[in-house]
Amino acid sequence: MNKQEKEQYLRDYGTLKSQGKPFFPYAVAKDSAMAIVVMAVIIAMSIVLGAELGPKADPTSTTYTPRPEWYFFFLFELLKVIKPPALVPLATIGVPTICLILLFLLPFYDRGPERRPERRPIATTAGIFVVCAIGYLTYLGAAAGPPTEIDIPIPANVSSQGPEAVANFEAGSQVVAQSGCAACHRFGENGNSGPGPALTNIGARLPAQAIQRTLLNPSAPMPSFSALSEESPKQFAQMVGFLAALK
Ligand code: HEC
Repeated sequence: MNKQEKEQYLRDYGTLKSQGKPFFPYAVAKDSAMAIVVMAVIIAMSIVLGAELGPKADPTSTTYTPRPEWYFFFLFELLKVIKPPALVPLATIGVPTICLILLFLLPFYDRGPERRPERRPIATTAGIFVVCAIGYLTYLGAAAGPPTEIDIPIPANVSSQGPEAVANFEAGSQVVAQSGCAACHRFGENGNSGPGPALTNIGARLPAQAIQRTLLNPSAPMPSFSALSEESPKQFAQMVGFLAALK
């Protein structure tokens, strides 16, 4: 702001101030009235409609798909994009904190007197970019598959065996994803890195029979999947085939 602009501003400010009403009690009264209306609406809605609680938690479920509230979808998606464990704190804490600090310091680093968006090209561009990025990430987060999804590129030893082997591999990957294995095991970039060992290359360590034996007779805390092998032997075989192909 140069000197001339500053004087102009102070003149305008003086004029407006002499015409205006003081903040207290006029603006405070208006704000309080509106705050009371909003509170009354919330109280009335919670009495009339009740709070939505969703279904009861089922601690035995291994296929539960945790989803954040819609307004957190962009952070959720950011977390999915930034996968390496070392960078996860950056996605969950770093990026939002940096954005908040930048927003907090805005009056200190943006000293321009202009208010009109078209005369503030940098701020306007940055604002539009942030809104678009949040919108896009929200859309991706809303459309994303369950976090239990396992996306591992089809290994060469499978693709060389023809389309049927590829289809079986993909079906097996889905069975594994739906069986909750990723809650305890890591598959490439997917799943938790404990308590079970990473299974990214399990096929190179264990032959199919040994994998099958583990699934039927695991040692605790891993649950047995013998029920799956009895109820749907085909899916069980696809799962074993998928794991044995991970080399
Ligand atoms: C509750 C956690 C948990 C779940 C769910 C789970 N596992 Fe495990 N799994 C383990 C643990 C812990 C071990 C290590 C046991 C040991 O070494 O005695 C293990 C071991 C294994 C092994 C042997 C690994 C090795 O290197 O010897 C295989 C294969 C395996 N799990 C596959 C699966 C598959 C496939 C699923 C899903 C169908 C699954 N697990 C679900 C916890 C789990």
